[in-house]
Amino acid sequence: MSQKPVAILLMLVCSVGVAFSTAVGDEKTSAAANGYTPVMETHHLMVEQDRVFGSLRALFRADDDKERFEKMGHDALVLAELANINTYHERAKNADYLGFTNTLKAQALALSKAASTKDLATIKSTLRSINTTCGSCHDKYQ
Ligand code: HEC
Repeated sequence: MSQKPVAILLMLVCSVGVAFSTAVGDEKTSAAANGYTPVMETHHLMVEQDRVFGSLRALFRADDDKERFEKMGHDALVLAELANINTYHERAKNADYLGFTNTLKAQALALSKAASTKDLATIKSTLRSINTTCGSCHDKYQ
């Protein structure tokens, strides 16, 4: 290949790269723009949130389980991801609904961090805060 076609090819690659990074920089809308649509209705998503939250509470009490912090860390991430998915649900067009689900996501991420440091006091208080967030959203939307 002579140098000219190589230079043209490089320019093309760069401009595609710039266009792509601009699209990705669009935060929340980027997932939708990339074709992301949740497949679960809110009812099914809630049944899962409930199951994972139940598991987290059981693990908190299971002090004979040697892997409980690892399991809690995993469950907390699943809960955070479920909350993340909920931000793409129809009701999240309401600012307060979006606020509740983003709060749950942040709390679940904090829980995962507390599990990684085996910080039982923070795990306990975060489980309580999560419970409050579930209730606050239900008061208005369930
Ligand atoms: C951002 C708002 C929001 C948050 C936060 C939230 N929920 Fe829900 N939840 C809903 C809505 C809306 C429904 C009704 C869903 C439907 O039937 O369409 C619901 C329903 C439920 C149901 C009943 C299942 C059903 O649909 O019949 C359970 C159980 C539940 N949620 C558990 C939880 C738990 C546990 C948490 C916290 C870890 C939580 N939810 C956090 C909005 C929320």
